Amino acid sequence: MSDGAKVDWCGVDNTTQVAIPSDPLKRVIGQDEAVTLARIAAKQRRHLLLVGPPGTGKSMIAQALALHLSRPTQEIRVVHNPENPERPLVEVKNEDEVGKESQSREFAEGELIEPINAPINVAERLGYRCRNCGAYSSPKERTCIKCQKLKSAEAVANNNPFGDLVTGLFEQMNVPGLASAAGKERVTTTRTRFGKEEVVVFEKCGEMIRVLDQDALEKRRDWERQSPRKVLVRLDRNPFVLATGSSETELLGDVRHDPYGGHAQLGTQPYDRVVPGAIHEAHEGVLFLDELPHLGHLQRFILTAMQERRFPISGRNPQSAGASVKVENVPCNFIFVGACNIQDLEQVLSPLRSRVCGNGYEVLVNTAMPDTPENRNSLVQFIAQEIISDGRIPHADASAIEAIIKEARVRANKVDNIGAALTLRLRELGGLIRAAGDLAVVEDAELINAKHIAKAVVRSKTAEEQINDRYGSYTKGLGTDISSAQKERSPYYFWNETKDSMFH
Ligand SMILES: Nc1ncnc2c1ncn2[C@@H]1O[C@H](COP(=O)(O)OP(=O)(O)OP(=O)(O)O)[C@@H](O)[C@H]1O
Ligand SMILES: [Mg+2]
Repeated sequence: MSDGAKVDWCGVDNTTQVAIPSDPLKRVIGQDEAVTLARIAAKQRRHLLLVGPPGTGKSMIAQALALHLSRPTQEIRVVHNPENPERPLVEVKNEDEVGKESQSREFAEGELIEPINAPINVAERLGYRCRNCGAYSSPKERTCIKCQKLKSAEAVANNNPFGDLVTGLFEQMNVPGLASAAGKERVTTTRTRFGKEEVVVFEKCGEMIRVLDQDALEKRRDWERQSPRKVLVRLDRNPFVLATGSSETELLGDVRHDPYGGHAQLGTQPYDRVVPGAIHEAHEGVLFLDELPHLGHLQRFILTAMQERRFPISGRNPQSAGASVKVENVPCNFIFVGACNIQDLEQVLSPLRSRVCGNGYEVLVNTAMPDTPENRNSLVQFIAQEIISDGRIPHADASAIEAIIKEARVRANKVDNIGAALTLRLRELGGLIRAAGDLAVVEDAELINAKHIAKAVVRSKTAEEQINDRYGSYTKGLGTDISSAQKERSPYYFWNETKDSMFH
């Protein structure tokens, strides 16, 4: 089967023969309208509200939509503001600028060379080369590994007043602060290049030596002149951000506390304590809010952010030193995708819905699809997808496929009261496939067959259905849920009785 093409499920002996589409939106079955709108939303940057019962593909659509967006092109940074450190500034750089900067930073970092390639006197003074025997070793070793003598003159000069003996002792005791390494940290020399004399700096850099020529030194000075900054939202980020709305901080960002109140020497500067919110991390991508009504009053902030496409970050804990810090105008240009159940729809703020409708779409997802050959094929694709994504169960044979299709029909009828249809409550149907797969694994079967499905149908019944089967009705089952002692006296027993008789 080619990418996305359909074959009748009868045409396959088992699900290994079913190809899974590479387009994540094509993996969503039975939600043609929602998928079409998701494609439009990705292309035109529109918002989306997906309404429908659990396990029908809302999260799946939101995620697939994000994969259809082009890669983010902007990096967001916060920059130290020397005039007013509690009002750090925002800097937005595009891909090109970020690339050029990192190139020039690399340049400013100079070139790394092997110590053996450095001038001999430089290698000696930095502590890489033994001045006695010429052997090379790590500058961490103060004594030469070959001749066991002190490697460089600086090793002695750098020493503490107690001399080599005591340092050696500290070294043995593993006290790094007191045990000095061999050689200097940097050596400045000159060289003649194109008839001109220029300064060259050699720096210790682990097992290598860093060489900074005049150009690199100038670049480095430029960097040092710049205000310090930190990257808030990276360029190579995930375009799909799931916000749970568990806290304001998670959604809107925060400024962390500093016990030294951001003191210039002791504390951490305010710009360095700024934390982005999910709305900022979703800049240029998708902000997905599952169970939208659970967000409560936070929905208001979302609608402001949607409208302004920028939202300030400030400290959210009034007791924290972060409370006085505020960064204005942090970009948050996201595609909003919200999801909720039908009964929760009225708890979604109407101004928020109005913004979605004004610049996007509301979709009621399907709970069932007509029982046509094409849709049956989609269901076969779904079965193969579930088996592959689970990774722990074997593939399904034709008898199992047929049994699952029959069960999808039964469920559409039983749960949604729709005849000649196949259910799209697919999380639950996926559960059935996994339960059948587990049975096959236990039996060491090569493929899932119809018998496994039949057993799994019984096993995957909800607790309510099991009560129904055992006691004839759910309320009758409730009445049995008491001990024999309670049976005589408990008022609840009679309450159950009454309730039972009320309904039957
Ligand atoms: N339309 C669909 N096509 C293919 N697979 C689906 C579909 N709907 C659900 N599934 C399967 O069920 C799983 C759960 O779906 P999903 O998380 O998208 O449901 P949801 O609608 O977001 O549910 P909830 O309201 O509980 O968040 C998916 O990971 C996928 O395996
Ligand atoms: Mg979901």
